[in-house]
Amino acid sequence: MTFPLSPNVTSQTLVPHYIAAGNECELFEVAWTRKLPLLLKGPTGCGKTRFVSHMAARLGLPLSTVSCHDDLAAADLTGRYLLKGGDTVWIDGPLTRAVRNGGICYLDEIVEARKDVAVVLHPLTDDRRILPLERTGETLQAPPEFMLVVSYNPGYQSILKALKPSTKQRFIAIEFDFLPKDQEIAIVAAESGLEPRHVAPLVNLAHRLRAMKGHDLEEGVSTRLMVYCATLIGSGLNPQDAIAAAMIEPLTDDPDVRQALCEVAKAVYP
Ligand SMILES: Nc1ncnc2c1ncn2[C@@H]1O[C@H](COP(=O)(O)OP(=O)(O)OP(=O)(O)O)[C@@H](O)[C@H]1O
Ligand SMILES: [Mg+2]
Repeated sequence: MTFPLSPNVTSQTLVPHYIAAGNECELFEVAWTRKLPLLLKGPTGCGKTRFVSHMAARLGLPLSTVSCHDDLAAADLTGRYLLKGGDTVWIDGPLTRAVRNGGICYLDEIVEARKDVAVVLHPLTDDRRILPLERTGETLQAPPEFMLVVSYNPGYQSILKALKPSTKQRFIAIEFDFLPKDQEIAIVAAESGLEPRHVAPLVNLAHRLRAMKGHDLEEGVSTRLMVYCATLIGSGLNPQDAIAAAMIEPLTDDPDVRQALCEVAKAVYP
């Protein structure tokens, strides 16, 4: 897919490598142009963060990423009054900074954040595009250069952690998944430097392991882990040791399941 580089981007090498699965680059660009917030969902290690870095670089936009956790409150995004010397000064949080200065604010694993975060996001993600700062009395109007992107992994969701429909329905959403074999081979080869013919059996193995998701495994092996595995093999490690360290141990702590996965690995990659 062709995509014009922003005049702000001086060199293609500044753009993180990303292989598109479909029309997500086009969708991102339209969302950016038309000022629509974007939600990315998909399993761990399938390329969501890479996609956002890639698009930010292609569009020549500053990117501010916040990894949400269960203690993250609205004030961590908007800002706080802090004591400095003898004075109390207001310090903008990352969301407020992005709204003031423009650029992409990316909230990773948004479902983890505390409930009061939704209160801050709602007026920013409908047609008002405003950020009310209760503590300072300001109401910031987001400039055209501001875009909000959030992501989460639906697989980890519990009822307690699900996004409310009123939040979800403020975003254009793109579903991510692991790419078809040929594309995943190309990604792992490009990221690790291992030749595609040596990567192909790892991708076959990953497909076998992913088929076990929900039975013995909570989550299938990610593209990220395959890149790790190929990197170990490319550095001279014995492939079975590399597979055990990068594609089996991170998936399970259960000795029986580990043994079963090792058997699968030996059958696919003798
Ligand atoms: N489409 C892709 N093009 C290029 N590299 C990719 C792609 N998808 C995955 N990768 C590789 O997989 C790694 C993991 O991807 P990334 O960190 O973007 O996953 P993620 O979806 O953000 O995962 P998490 O939900 O755990 O944060 C990247 O560092 C990159 O090496
Ligand atoms: Mg990520």
